[in-house]
Amino acid sequence: MSKTLPGSCTVEDALPLAIPDRGSKPRNWGLLLTSVIGGSLVALYAVTTPFIAPALRKHCLPFVPATSKQMEYVLKMLKGRHGSLVDVGSGDGRIVIAAAKVGFRAVGYELNPWLVWYSRYQAMREGVHQNAKFYISDLWKVNFSQYKNVVIFGVPQMMLPLGEKLGEELQQDARVIACRFPFPHWSPTHTFGEGMDTVWAYDSESFGRKKGNGSVEISGVLPD
Ligand SMILES: C[S@@+](CC[C@H](N)C(=O)[O-])C[C@H]1O[C@@H](n2cnc3c(N)ncnc32)[C@H](O)[C@@H]1O
Ligand SMILES: *[C@@H]1O[C@H](CO)[C@@H](O)[C@H](O)[C@H]1NC(C)=O
Ligand SMILES: *[C@@H]1O[C@H](CO)[C@@H](O)[C@H](O)[C@H]1NC(C)=O
Repeated sequence: MSKTLPGSCTVEDALPLAIPDRGSKPRNWGLLLTSVIGGSLVALYAVTTPFIAPALRKHCLPFVPATSKQMEYVLKMLKGRHGSLVDVGSGDGRIVIAAAKVGFRAVGYELNPWLVWYSRYQAMREGVHQNAKFYISDLWKVNFSQYKNVVIFGVPQMMLPLGEKLGEELQQDARVIACRFPFPHWSPTHTFGEGMDTVWAYDSESFGRKKGNGSVEISGVLPD
């Protein structure tokens, strides 16, 4: 599906994610088809809509669902926390739905409308649609300041600019949880798992605004 995306979204970009995990074969062909069709639609939309095209050109972020191990570690990292949660690029909604089931007010932002519709349908089926909301949005245009718990399964090249964006926006009591690819400039407060299933948690001592005046400047412009 990544091949259909325009701009610098190459197969190499997607490669670290595209290697199938043991035990995470796409058993759900309907969902796979949905994401392929959705991916093509997003590509078409991107070609015809300059508004979202820059986001896709900047960071190719294909749909690769979290593994069951990753899900387990994410939920562990959320133990003892509450309030609002956001999954940045929520895919088929599995993390948002799992978080809603354990009591979070959970929200997913996702660019692929088919995945958003699928997520809403799943949330309905699972009976958590009150606490699991999904929006068709570009993650680079969302202000995450209201969220106390932020989950991201990204790609390496987006982690630095995303970290800077989150460092700007998040409150001191927020926690950021990264799946598979860490934030290169933060040191995690917790790490679970290894290899492709690794999950990192960061609290404000890692991402919080540095005391002083300089930290704001670097985050204003994302690299091209
Ligand atoms: C690696 S998947 C992770 C899915 C989900 N968070 C999970 O762990 O199962 C990343 C998701 O981000 C979405 N995405 C890519 N670019 C995006 C953007 N600019 N804004 C919002 N979502 C985006 C993709 O469509 C894909 O579903
Ligand atoms: C995000 O929203 C908060 C609260 O509304 C606001 O204080 C902050 O300036 C916003 N940040 C950005 C980068 O827009
Ligand atoms: C921030 O800048 C102000 C004015 O330029 C200065 O007085 C203050 O000491 C600076 N704060 C830090 C922590 O560097």
